[in-house]
Amino acid sequence: MKTQLEQLLAAAIAELKQNGTLPDDVAPRIQLDRPRDKSHGDFATNLALMLAKPAKANPRALAEAILAALPGNDIIAGADIAGPGFINFKVSQQQLLEQLEAAYASAELNITKAETSKRVVIDYSSPNLAKEMHVGHLRSAIIGDAVARVQEFLGHTVIRQNHVGDWGTQFGMLLAHMEELDAATAEFELNNLETFYKAAKRSFDESEAFAKRARELVVALQSGDEYCNKLWQQFIDVSLTHCQEVYDRLGVQLTRDDVMAESSYNDDLAPVVKDLEAQGLLVEDQGAKCVFLDEFKNKEGDPLPIIVQKTGGGFLYATTDLAAIRYRVGTLNADQVMYFVDQRQGLHFQQIFTLARKAGYASADLQLDHFGFGTVMGKDGRPYKSRDGGVTKLADLLDEAERRALELLQQKSNELSETEQEHIAKVVGISSVKYADLSKNRTSDYIFDWDTMLSFEGNTAPYLLYAFTRVNSIFQKAGLDANSVTGELMLEDEREIALANQLVRFNEVVHSVADKAMPHFLCGYLFELAGNFSSFYEACPILNNDNAEQRQSRLKLSALTARTLQQGLRLLGIPTLEKM
Ligand code: ARG
Repeated sequence: MKTQLEQLLAAAIAELKQNGTLPDDVAPRIQLDRPRDKSHGDFATNLALMLAKPAKANPRALAEAILAALPGNDIIAGADIAGPGFINFKVSQQQLLEQLEAAYASAELNITKAETSKRVVIDYSSPNLAKEMHVGHLRSAIIGDAVARVQEFLGHTVIRQNHVGDWGTQFGMLLAHMEELDAATAEFELNNLETFYKAAKRSFDESEAFAKRARELVVALQSGDEYCNKLWQQFIDVSLTHCQEVYDRLGVQLTRDDVMAESSYNDDLAPVVKDLEAQGLLVEDQGAKCVFLDEFKNKEGDPLPIIVQKTGGGFLYATTDLAAIRYRVGTLNADQVMYFVDQRQGLHFQQIFTLARKAGYASADLQLDHFGFGTVMGKDGRPYKSRDGGVTKLADLLDEAERRALELLQQKSNELSETEQEHIAKVVGISSVKYADLSKNRTSDYIFDWDTMLSFEGNTAPYLLYAFTRVNSIFQKAGLDANSVTGELMLEDEREIALANQLVRFNEVVHSVADKAMPHFLCGYLFELAGNFSSFYEACPILNNDNAEQRQSRLKLSALTARTLQQGLRLLGIPTLEKM
């Protein structure tokens, strides 16, 4: 609907250029918003205000001209001009009904696929393997996964890349510790990488001999020593197994095949540096090889370096990311690369992207975006910590989520068997953690609070999961199939109209999630949809309705609501429940 309206406005602008009202060189971005206050119509645009200046016209007069130039159509039921020159549109009910029927008839709710299908590389999760995944790894995995699902749903080819950190000096310390342990202890300690890491770190800090051995092992590892590589491989394998367990529990669609570790770029690091040198981009600064770009300066106005090779010859995080761009372009044929990495790495990515373009690794039409996110905070307003003050292991956090959800379910009176309760608790617990993350603006910090995320009220997973079961129960109760409701939709009650309007918005919301990598748009939408349904359900009898046509129409609206909720949650990586 939005797209159609945009097309009509584009046609009006073309017409106004033809007749000389608008200069030829204007190319406005047509923006249509959903007014908060529904009495202002279904869509509003500030087009006339934007064009007033280049057209040297009064915005209200221009708004009138735009309306007059709109091609004939059966979409717009009414339009008026408000304030200094906003245009408000009301969409025809016929149009609304047609859209809903089309959504009902289609398996995927008649979502418009992307105009051109792109190859989208999504770099997400990407933890360092030296330690076990902790709460700081939650956001990249959850948000990246949701955006990957949405991109795929819109018809793009998604290539997931888990750029895990498996290289660097820390591994020397871990290998030295591994060497010291007998097989049984090693196996035991590796079960809990956090403990393993701490023990290694302690030896490293306390024993000079250990530290020396650790450094030797790094050198040996990096020069391809067979013994070291075997040891290292063993460690990486254990660590990746831990990660996979977390992904599986979270329902994050990453597998071993998506792992493209930092070490896989080792062979291209020296060539990258050599190439930058050949292009005259490198400067030697105190023995280190750096690139200085005019775009990046510190507070004093001095250019900031991107270090690509250290004094001793070692390569850096930045070098690996440059090699990764070469691989993603050259081998994966990416049209777009999306990075879901902590906001604090913003400067790193801006530098890498700029340099990759300058060095010709990324062409002008390759889309490179860093989608940063804020920090998970505790209630005390500091980064979230476990009770003992350490970092919280993700595996423990998920255990706690499931445990808390089970307690809540047991407190409620219900007729669920123990097995059912356990299954539901798992889904509710994990979904609550995911949804709490997804429903916040990606770029903000958020407070991790069990009580809020597990609440059955508000914009939470339990509320939405429950809303879904409630819609579903209408069909269960009547023994009806939600996919084969006959009869036609009709909209009379204002709550039916509000629900219908919300349902047709699904399409534009999904597209906006893909464009902005902002899953919270979808969460907010689903929450509103559940609210619309609830008002409708209270005011409009469905099964208890003598008017057979109305009953069918309302069943169809309910079926559409159930499917939209389910599809929306699925895109967020959250499974639905039949009952709870
Ligand atoms: N391993 C890095 C970290 O934990 C994140 C890697 C993100 N991806 C990338 N291509 N740099 O900070």
